[in-house]
Amino acid sequence: MSNFNIAVLDGDGIGPEVTAEAVKVLNVIADKFGHDFQYTYAPVGAVAIDQTGNPLPDETLALCKRSDALFFGAIGHPRFDNDPTAKVRPEQGLLKLRKELGLYANLRPVAGYAELADLSPLRPERMKGVDMLIVRELTGGIYFGEKGRKDDGNTAYDTCTYTRMEIERIVKMGFQEARARRGKLTLVDKANVMETSRLWREITRELAAENEDVELNFMFVDNAAMQLILNPAQFDVIVTSNMFGDILSDASSVLAGSLGLLPSSSIGSTVGMFEPIHGSWPEGAGQDRANPVAAILSAAMLLDHLGLREEAGAVRRSVNRTLGEGVGTEDLNPRERLGTQAFGDRIAHAIQPGA
Ligand code: IPM
Ligand code: MN
Repeated sequence: MSNFNIAVLDGDGIGPEVTAEAVKVLNVIADKFGHDFQYTYAPVGAVAIDQTGNPLPDETLALCKRSDALFFGAIGHPRFDNDPTAKVRPEQGLLKLRKELGLYANLRPVAGYAELADLSPLRPERMKGVDMLIVRELTGGIYFGEKGRKDDGNTAYDTCTYTRMEIERIVKMGFQEARARRGKLTLVDKANVMETSRLWREITRELAAENEDVELNFMFVDNAAMQLILNPAQFDVIVTSNMFGDILSDASSVLAGSLGLLPSSSIGSTVGMFEPIHGSWPEGAGQDRANPVAAILSAAMLLDHLGLREEAGAVRRSVNRTLGEGVGTEDLNPRERLGTQAFGDRIAHAIQPGA
């Protein structure tokens, strides 16, 4: 029996709905495996701006710091997207959370499901064997560099900076993840143009000497974008900077057939955060239409991170089994169409320890 305090930041749009299904599944796990999970909910994003004026209220951050794990729903609202003058934006809450909690690594696994092969935008033969992990640097680079406007009013800048420490820790994680998988690491960069990329390559080459059991290759980001579509099965682990990882992970996320399937974890030296990679889908909010699988698989990553590996395995098996039955939300074009809650119920009920 283990006790864990989980902070739940369900956020905007469909965030609360998919999060509720992940919590439903965690409750079944707690019940069947004899654990005690305590959830504390706190606002973040547009919801938090509405309530407090701040996308990441101090109380929310303090709660996260004293929790064993964070579950995150989704963030963002269209009323901020088309307003270049908005001073406060929901996304700032997420960026601050990553920085303050030192969540420097974002892990995004992408795999195909045989049952859903006809949903993929790629032909089935190209999807065969697709099983990769994108390791994205999350607290540095152009996202967090100096930015501003010049006095002339017509010039803006965002600077990209990386230090040895920031590069070393994420590339080391890339090697480690590759070793635990198929032993292949690809550093994606733009070393033909950018100085930061050249430093990434230099450091990665140094680290390769201590990681000779991992096969390392380098790829420019423009080529990588193309290769992810032409031949995604060639990749095992991709390690890359913040911005490149943001772009490439969205591109690869649709390979499986729906953005609603893919989980992620953001980890560092302290508490970990787990979230579906899809956004807040404001148009679908409150309609019981969103696919809860990405959130449920994020809960499995949370369980893994807490050391509950058997439990995580039980969740994944249950998702696979349920998808195999041909049921699901509308995005999966299923034989039997279910709403968010009914789909979550089916997955929760299919959980069997040790099966
Ligand atoms: C993501 C999102 C965020 C990012 C946004 C919401 C700030 O796109 O998690 O990938 O760009 O990192
Ligand atoms: Mn993104």
